[in-house]
Amino acid sequence: MRRLAVVGAGSMGAQIAQQAALHGMEVRLQDVSGVQLTRGAESNRSLLQRRVEKGRMTADEMETALTRVHQTTELTEAVVEADFVIEAVVERLDAKLRVFAELGRLAPAHAILASNSSTMGISKLAPASGRPDRCCNMHFFYPPLVMELVEVVRGPETSDATVERAMAFARSIGRTPVLLHTEIDGFIVNRILHMASQEAYRLLDSGVASFEDIDTAVEKGLNWPMGPFRLGDFSGLDVTYNARLHMYQTTGDERYRPSPQLEAKVKAGYLGRKTGRGWYDYS
Ligand SMILES: NC(=O)c1ccc[n+]([C@@H]2O[C@H](COP(=O)([O-])OP(=O)(O)OC[C@H]3O[C@@H](n4cnc5c(N)ncnc54)[C@H](O)[C@@H]3O)[C@@H](O)[C@H]2O)c1
Repeated sequence: MRRLAVVGAGSMGAQIAQQAALHGMEVRLQDVSGVQLTRGAESNRSLLQRRVEKGRMTADEMETALTRVHQTTELTEAVVEADFVIEAVVERLDAKLRVFAELGRLAPAHAILASNSSTMGISKLAPASGRPDRCCNMHFFYPPLVMELVEVVRGPETSDATVERAMAFARSIGRTPVLLHTEIDGFIVNRILHMASQEAYRLLDSGVASFEDIDTAVEKGLNWPMGPFRLGDFSGLDVTYNARLHMYQTTGDERYRPSPQLEAKVKAGYLGRKTGRGWYDYS
């Protein structure tokens, strides 16, 4: 398993490709946009350059790792010899279905096809490839050059061999895989994060404590790097709100109902760091 193809060179794909190259893999990184490929390569260079400056790698090691990532806009060229393919294109079902259909046609029969989607279980994408037994989710975290965890999710048709190869692949590129035996929304991390932050909003809405004190409690008592309100400001309160609303509307489950105070922030345009104000003031 030495030849990796990564499809999609955005925030996730470019760094996943680089992480594998740092661990000795030959990688072909494909995107429909040449601009995105260039941007990804430049960003990877500056991230690795910082490691060189800190003495964590040599300049030669950096150049070797950078040249192991071959860029192309042609999908055939990217995947024709691949042992393993990671799909990291935009989070749109139509786009991913087209990619999986093409991968089924173009990648070698033994190649594993993994999707990095945050929300689409592999059962939605795998049938399009014609080889659902060799498909799974591999959910990396942003930024993939730093974050160690990979959630490997098995779909209803994923074979044992595919699961083993996906877990082994993640380890071989210096990442820690965890396995979900069943496809569920939010996988493990986002599910736990969601429930914890919903509970924080419930405490706030019922007047138990201020948002600052809830953040402090979580940061000092649970040792989380950011409390739920600080994290919400960081990710964008509109993102949190829309995710809650979507889940509430699709399931009708009260546990997902967005907090009135969160809704008020979003309606007032206080979306967090990106607007200079959310729960905290960044002006
Ligand atoms: N950003 C995150 O924090 C994060 C974390 C985990 C997983 N994900 C998932 O990773 C995937 C990519 O997310 P991202 O943040 O890197 O998105 P992004 O918008 O930064 O990049 C997507 C890239 O896909 C390319 N693309 C679109 N259609 C394509 C096609 N048919 N073939 C090849 N390339 C194509 C675009 O040109 C773009 O460069 C999504 O499924 C997302 O859910 C994102």
